[in-house]
Amino acid sequence: MANTIVVGTQWGDEGKAKIIDYLTRSADIIVRFQGGANAGHTVIAEGKKFVFHMVPSGIITPDKVCIVGNGVVFDAQQFLREVNELRAMGVTVDGRLFVSDLAHLVLPFHRLEDAAAESCKKDMYKIGTTGRGIGPAYTDKVARTGIRVGDLLDWDLFTGKFNRSFSTKRTLITTAYDVRFDLNAAAILDEFSRIRTALLPFVIDTAERLFEAIRAKKQLLFEGAQGTFLDIDHGTYPFVTSSNTIAGAACTGSGIGPLSIDHVVGIVKAYTTRVGNGPFPTELTDATGETLRSVGHEFGATTGRPRRCGWFDSVMVRKAVQINGLTRFALTKIDVMNHLDEIRICTHYEIDGKKVDQFPSGHSLLEKAKPVYETMEGWKADIAGCTRYADLPAKTIAYIERLRNLCYNMPLLVVSTGPDRKQTIEVEPL
Ligand code: IMP
Repeated sequence: MANTIVVGTQWGDEGKAKIIDYLTRSADIIVRFQGGANAGHTVIAEGKKFVFHMVPSGIITPDKVCIVGNGVVFDAQQFLREVNELRAMGVTVDGRLFVSDLAHLVLPFHRLEDAAAESCKKDMYKIGTTGRGIGPAYTDKVARTGIRVGDLLDWDLFTGKFNRSFSTKRTLITTAYDVRFDLNAAAILDEFSRIRTALLPFVIDTAERLFEAIRAKKQLLFEGAQGTFLDIDHGTYPFVTSSNTIAGAACTGSGIGPLSIDHVVGIVKAYTTRVGNGPFPTELTDATGETLRSVGHEFGATTGRPRRCGWFDSVMVRKAVQINGLTRFALTKIDVMNHLDEIRICTHYEIDGKKVDQFPSGHSLLEKAKPVYETMEGWKADIAGCTRYADLPAKTIAYIERLRNLCYNMPLLVVSTGPDRKQTIEVEPL
């Protein structure tokens, strides 16, 4: 392989975990660089289902080193739950799982603040947050009032910072949001004194570790969470998450230089989904959307919410190619479309009667975008058994090639034809 970043090209849930699992086999180190426990990465291996929120999903592959980088907002309670589950399943984590001392902690008052802020918004302004405290934790980081994992090394320092934040949050939540604040500082500190003992063996200067790994020519794999259009700058603001989700964030979120990256793989779902609120030009609110949701099991891995489903939108994915500098597509969930009579691809939008083929940056323009479609015949066949690209039905290949053709003829790394590791067609390896 080569040092590779994996990002979602749509609104998340593109099936990144399966492709990361595939790439993990040729990687030495897997790094998470942004987001937090709002992500839910599901991997199915040897018939077992694993859902990760904090620990990089590469951990289930023996001997790989996994790193949670400084750009992540770190939910220590969730992390230790996953560590305990992994240990109970016989997975060794000690000596191969590390957390950056610079990552900011998500604390119980962040989760409360997330819910309180959302509950005070009028319906049309609600973002549909996962409620995991992500936005408030990143807000504190930028406001320079956050508490970092490394602060746990010095208990007095940690308790001082915690008590200051706790009382600020109590004032904010009870006065500005007018929401009940029933957290108990002593109980949380008590829990964190136990968390600290369990967590500190995992905490290191991960940037230094990565620098040494690069010098030793180890292969690094950067595991993005969410997707391009949930990016705080480039996404469908304000209906986005609170981190940069695009490829550039892999460098700032892990502390490596940009010249260390060789490839950027964009995960592309064969149709489009979105969970939470915000514009979605190709959304299907009819029976076809329902079919995609039920056949594709389109329910959030973190919240269980039904995902909104729609046709493939090439305007979006073209933009994702541009802002991530993609070098390959990994196409996922094409099998979900097996039984459709006809399939549509959005080639461009119409806004105020004008043809628009670049993704509009403003929310109000996007709200007015009408998708313009090309219709193709469905292949009406089960493709799960195909192991070579050329063995796919001609109509499936025609759909994939049209999709690529609309997106700068991006080369394909793989086509995934089902959730299992075996259901992966390799096309152009890295
Ligand atoms: P937050 O990141 O929990 O604040 O949520 C902000 C928006 O991002 C909401 O619309 C969420 O549904 C969406 N979101 C956050 N994480 C994920 C993810 O891992 N997959 C898909 N959508 C996500």
